[in-house]
Amino acid sequence: MSFRPLPHRTRLVAELVGDVTDLAGTGAPAGLPAGGGDVRAWVAEVAALTEPDRVVWCDGSAAEKQRLLDEMVAAGTLVKLDEAKRPGSYLARSNPSDVARVESRTFICSRREEDAGPTNNWRAPAGMRVELRDVFAGAMRGRTMYVVPFSMGPVGGPISQVGVEITDSPYVVVSMHVMTRVSPRVLDLVDAGQQWVPAVHSVGAPLVDDDGRRSADVPWPCNDTKYIAHFPESREIWSYGSGYGGNALLGKKCFALRIASAMARDEGWLAEHMLLIKVTSPQGRTYHLAAAFPSACGKTNLAMLQPTIPGWRVETLGDDIVWMRPGPDGRLRAINPEAGFFGVAPGTGVETNPTAVATLARDVIFTNVALTDDGDVWWEGLTPEPPAHLVDWTGRDWTPADGEAGRPAAHPNSRFTVAAAQCPTIAADWEDPAGVPVDAIVFGGRRASNVPLVVQATGWDHGVFLGATISSERTAAAEGALGELRRDPFAMLPFCGYNMADHWAHWLEVGDGLDAAARPQVFQVNWFRRGADGRFLWPGFGENSRVVAWIVDRLEAARGLRGDASADGGAVSSPVGLLPAPGALDVDGLDLPAEDLAALLDVPAGPWLAEADLTEEFFDTFGDRVPARLREQLAALRARLEAAGG
Ligand code: GTP
Ligand code: SPV
Ligand code: MN
Repeated sequence: MSFRPLPHRTRLVAELVGDVTDLAGTGAPAGLPAGGGDVRAWVAEVAALTEPDRVVWCDGSAAEKQRLLDEMVAAGTLVKLDEAKRPGSYLARSNPSDVARVESRTFICSRREEDAGPTNNWRAPAGMRVELRDVFAGAMRGRTMYVVPFSMGPVGGPISQVGVEITDSPYVVVSMHVMTRVSPRVLDLVDAGQQWVPAVHSVGAPLVDDDGRRSADVPWPCNDTKYIAHFPESREIWSYGSGYGGNALLGKKCFALRIASAMARDEGWLAEHMLLIKVTSPQGRTYHLAAAFPSACGKTNLAMLQPTIPGWRVETLGDDIVWMRPGPDGRLRAINPEAGFFGVAPGTGVETNPTAVATLARDVIFTNVALTDDGDVWWEGLTPEPPAHLVDWTGRDWTPADGEAGRPAAHPNSRFTVAAAQCPTIAADWEDPAGVPVDAIVFGGRRASNVPLVVQATGWDHGVFLGATISSERTAAAEGALGELRRDPFAMLPFCGYNMADHWAHWLEVGDGLDAAARPQVFQVNWFRRGADGRFLWPGFGENSRVVAWIVDRLEAARGLRGDASADGGAVSSPVGLLPAPGALDVDGLDLPAEDLAALLDVPAGPWLAEADLTEEFFDTFGDRVPARLREQLAALRARLEAAGG
């Protein structure tokens, strides 16, 4: 596949609301203003369609952000927190129906259905353009339309990409200020010919009706009808009806994952749902780890890890998205395309993630957490004991008795939005446009059984197989039944902008192109395995540094840095990969009974053979697009399990 430059598709406003043609194609000339050419013409076309009262071009300045924050406080969208306790910080309460990503309304509109694949909701581009034109027509009446030029990655960097988000939500504008680099320099890059992604967002709540009657605004406007639509071939995003997180901050999941993954496939790079850290060993050697865990499964926690074992240091580069490209030296180079963290609040406390708590000391936008009586915030897990009285995320009075009755004070998917630069463990080179070399890729998920605490893949193909077969219990990050086990390959199930099986093939291909000696080692971890009594077997959080240390040991063994004995002595074979050899995982000082450690590393052959059957069923849903090399991995896994007595 080769990269196809975007056609120049600027049209006159008059043509725009015109008739519907090109029903078989990408739909580019029909229905909707298409970007790709001149930003100003596109903005005019979107304005003609959505009919805002005014258009404001954003510059990303601190003054602009403060003006919008003040306006939102006046409008009741934001509560200003106590300036002494939480300087520069605000609380937003969303509409209770608009609290998470809406996967059922997320669409991949590729020309051919098989290019979206069985894990995405596919819609024909032309038909979707017609539907979107209907809902976007007049959608911004009575509102201000903001034009937000942004860069994912440092502006002008070789791995970076640019986009322009049009939105009628000031909350989205200030969030984009934190999460991306908003800058007029982006428009200069576009003028100089750089490809850019047009992204249109509306909360879908016009303030003027068809008869011209004006209504009052509400604190969190949104619409029960939602569309999160992507056109991977023409690299466009249209989002309607939600103001929340990944639905609305279009640089994040929509661009940096769904559209970018399609770009990356065509251009030979990778766009992944991963954290990125730098690990320094007691010997002072540094390694970079990129880790893919599904939503709300511990990326932010691992990104900000405070090691409990002496001599180790972890620095933060990113907590949600990583873009990786083979560098001139044959190594994979990674950047975090984001500029901030949009992190899960519940469960973030001094005990579990003290670095995050420190990051949140000032200049934070909190969404759907609880408000304390002294103008600060609280959520489940911030402190062991809740305050005696709170205002909960819906604005109602709350006491600990409500919590005991099962009504949490903060929504389970409540979040903080904060600049990455504020993180005390941020790595000095986190904004290096050239990125950092990746030494290890780690896959993980929430698995109560079967999946060991840590395994090392026996090679690249096996590593890709581990990524392709991740499954995890559902969390509150998206709508749907909590706890249900589902496949989440590469932690990309909701985020891959093309056929997931092609994503696996692409990973194999990228690996083939890397220098064999410098190819990252691949690992799988599981912090969430439970005992027969239902408790987590592994203490997790800072203690995960012990697993990181073993991973680094394995990297050093592969590079001959550990001497002959430990090179082979650190790991033992199992049917699912290499496990820590007895004594190789440092559990000194942990209150971890030997039987718990054994249970954490147990690979029961019977349940694993059953899991292999489910993997085959899963693979079969992709038909012949599953790479033969992954089918071979599955057959080899079964053979090893059978030999182990399954
Ligand atoms: P997204 O931002 O949704 O992509 O998710 P994320 O992967 O960054 O999620 P985050 O790190 O915020 O995960 C939050 C949840 O995972 C909280 O409930 C944490 O308490 C829990 N968690 C994180 N690390 C651990 C761990 O080591 N052990 C256990 N048991 N829970 C953990
Ligand atoms: C996720 O759900 O994986 C997130 C939060 O990181 S959101 O940006 O809302 O998608
Ligand atoms: Mn995420």
